[in-house]
Amino acid sequence: MTTRLTTTGGAPIADNQNTLTAGPRGPVLLEDYQLIEKLAHQNRERIPERVVHAKGWGAYGTFTVTNDITRYTRASIFADVGKKTELLARFSTVAGELGAADHERDVRGFAVKFYTDEGNWDVVGNNTPIFFVRDPYKFPDFIHTQKRHPKSNLRSATAMWDFWSLSPEALHQVTILMSDRGLPRTPMQMNGYGSHTYSFWNKDGERFWVKFHFKTMQGHSHYTNREGEAVIGRTREGYQEALFGTIENGDFPKWKLCVQVMPELDAEQTPYNPFDLTKIWPHSDYPLIEVGIMELNRNPENYFAEIEQAAFSPSNKVPGIGYSPDKMLQARVFSYADAHRYRLGTHYEALPVNAPRCPVHHYHKDGQMNFFGQRTGHLDAYYEPNSIPASAKEDPSTAEPPLRISGDAARYNHREGNDDYSQARALHDRVMNDDERQRLYGNIAEAMQGIPEEIAERALGHFALISPAYADGIRAARAALGAGLQAAE
Ligand code: NDP
Ligand code: HEM
Repeated sequence: MTTRLTTTGGAPIADNQNTLTAGPRGPVLLEDYQLIEKLAHQNRERIPERVVHAKGWGAYGTFTVTNDITRYTRASIFADVGKKTELLARFSTVAGELGAADHERDVRGFAVKFYTDEGNWDVVGNNTPIFFVRDPYKFPDFIHTQKRHPKSNLRSATAMWDFWSLSPEALHQVTILMSDRGLPRTPMQMNGYGSHTYSFWNKDGERFWVKFHFKTMQGHSHYTNREGEAVIGRTREGYQEALFGTIENGDFPKWKLCVQVMPELDAEQTPYNPFDLTKIWPHSDYPLIEVGIMELNRNPENYFAEIEQAAFSPSNKVPGIGYSPDKMLQARVFSYADAHRYRLGTHYEALPVNAPRCPVHHYHKDGQMNFFGQRTGHLDAYYEPNSIPASAKEDPSTAEPPLRISGDAARYNHREGNDDYSQARALHDRVMNDDERQRLYGNIAEAMQGIPEEIAERALGHFALISPAYADGIRAARAALGAGLQAAE
């Protein structure tokens, strides 16, 4: 039996090939509702793209606990070794628009929504453990430098380096971006990091600070700029092809989820601010503790419904997991749900991809596109408190332990007394080998092409404070690039 085509109202459509016209040559009659419905729907097929991280690739999967961490957290997702939780992951680039080529040098987003039995927990991270800015006031300015110039409508290297060279806290992240890790071959061949410091609390109400690391089990693999350009020449959709293809072939990628855990009071003693998003916690001080395995094993059935409409937010947390004083994180707790209400609509969390897989009870009411009824546990309970026993009530047993904070309200200079160089130095001097350093210098030299000398010199001044060899390497790479370009003319 064939499936009968209908209007959105469910009425059968007799002819989907020929419009309703006055005579065979037209004109079209206004009463051709089916044509009008088709055109009207097409006009509404696009929603605003994400203001950042617009281009993305996603899949469903499973998280399995492999190690007991219940001494740190009461989060139900970690309750038992062997426990499985369904999840959705979305990877992305940051700066490019929805149609951007996948293999561009950029930070990659690494967002995971865990559908836990006590609500959705989202880790909305990147493939880098740190970030370009540490004060959320500067996030919109930073993003403007990554997007298009208002007049030329072109991306501007001058704007990027002007901002970075005036923001020394950015150069640790710039070092990672310009290193091999700035251009992973596929989303499967990179790590993910929660980046911020979050918190855990256990059943006794003890708090710990925590960082999340997703370590790729496929191994790291990267392209050089030239290799990336060659791939883009063949396909602009290399990541989608790789992720979708590998899952379709039954070859399921995996990541090991690890945590670094810091006792609550240690935060007052570390030589760096552990809530500063431009800093890592050295592994030697806070070693990685394995928690479980994330496997991606199911492609979405419909990209738009399940990936474009996916709404990840750091505000989605569950009992046992909390925020930290990190200023950036605080701003993100506001920003994402606000973006989702604008991009997707008031009831975005009731969309199937975002809907929790546990009972949902709240007293929010009505609003555009409300397609669900009362969620309060009883038809007469549309306010709270009420005296209806069956209605949804708060559960004090899930309360987060109180957080010790103090301080005078002021706009504190976040650069004062802050060491922006040592951790970038550790990466440049100790973690990278000679070949990696040479590629780093070459990538920076290319990225600096065409910018005013004054801005380049200001940036080089900061690179020299990371390590004199770093600045010298970039200078040599710039000279070689300049000579190469002259020879080619
Ligand atoms: P470790 O030697 O214990 O760890 C070095 C880390 O660097 C590893 O996690 C490694 O990831 C990662 N790494 C290697 N190459 C790059 C690259 N090009 N870009 C980004 N990360 C890379 O050192 P420490 O913990 O003492 O940290 C030293 C420096 O390493 C830090 O200042 C920071 O710049 C960088 N780093 C540190 C991380 C941390 O959480 N401690 C995380 C990532 C980077 P992998 O193990 O997957 O190969
Ligand atoms: C997406 C804001 C910092 C990772 C977004 C979106 C906004 C936003 C508005 C689009 C959301 C949507 O429409 O669905 C901010 C602000 C930041 C900040 C205000 C700082 C103050 C960060 C940091 C990280 C990060 C530090 C990583 C550690 C991501 C990711 C996405 C995203 C991965 C895409 C999520 C997805 O796949 O849908 N950000 N961001 N952002 N951001 Fe941020």
